[in-house]
Amino acid sequence: MTQDELKQLVGQAAADYVVANVPEGAVIGVGTGSTANCFIDALAASKGRYRGAVSSSLATTARLQSHGIKVFDLNEIDSLPVYVDGADEIDGSGAMIKGGGGALTREKIVASVSDVFVCIADASKRVDVMGTFPLPVEVVPMARTAVGRRLAALGGVPVLRVTKEGAPFITDNGNEILDVKGLSITDPRGLEARINALPGVVTVGLFAARGADLCLLGGANGVERITYGK
Ligand code: A5P
Repeated sequence: MTQDELKQLVGQAAADYVVANVPEGAVIGVGTGSTANCFIDALAASKGRYRGAVSSSLATTARLQSHGIKVFDLNEIDSLPVYVDGADEIDGSGAMIKGGGGALTREKIVASVSDVFVCIADASKRVDVMGTFPLPVEVVPMARTAVGRRLAALGGVPVLRVTKEGAPFITDNGNEILDVKGLSITDPRGLEARINALPGVVTVGLFAARGADLCLLGGANGVERITYGK
């Protein structure tokens, strides 16, 4: 199967998981990216079961609305039974690197409200030690250089994310992203806390303190279901 076919497979598996485990009338937390898009497309078939969704990005909002799925502001919602999202890397404890699509801050906020985080990914995302995928860090633009120095002191090589046209990539929140190369993330929780504590950092794309509870991992033999004890 191609990577796109695997993404569709896990997107459908997540929609099936939601039908089986989430009560009718619930609001669903929805992530961002090409795998999350496959989930949204699969979810559309059962959209009548749900009240709607909370979205983690402007792109996801547009896709949900294109399927006629109502999008709620998170401020209107007290709890979410489930949050479904992709990952750039996921390790054996369910910790993830996220933010390749630039939506890390809203993803982390919506995930923090959810009872269960379901990660959907093709098998290429599963790693023993994270860090091959550059770690995204959303920064307030005036702090870009100062934060970059601190990230370099942690052993990384921060690179400002730019668009195809060469302009700084701007997040949905009006900030910039440093992609940190060269890290070998052996202590995801510790590194998440250290980077989040740097003045000017909005969010680091390490999801370790609140990692995945379940991963639906698509591979040659179908969908593997991996649960993580917390
Ligand atoms: C978006 O900001 C990310 O966190 C995505 O969830 C992650 O990059 C995975 O994206 P793909 O499903 O497109 O690989």
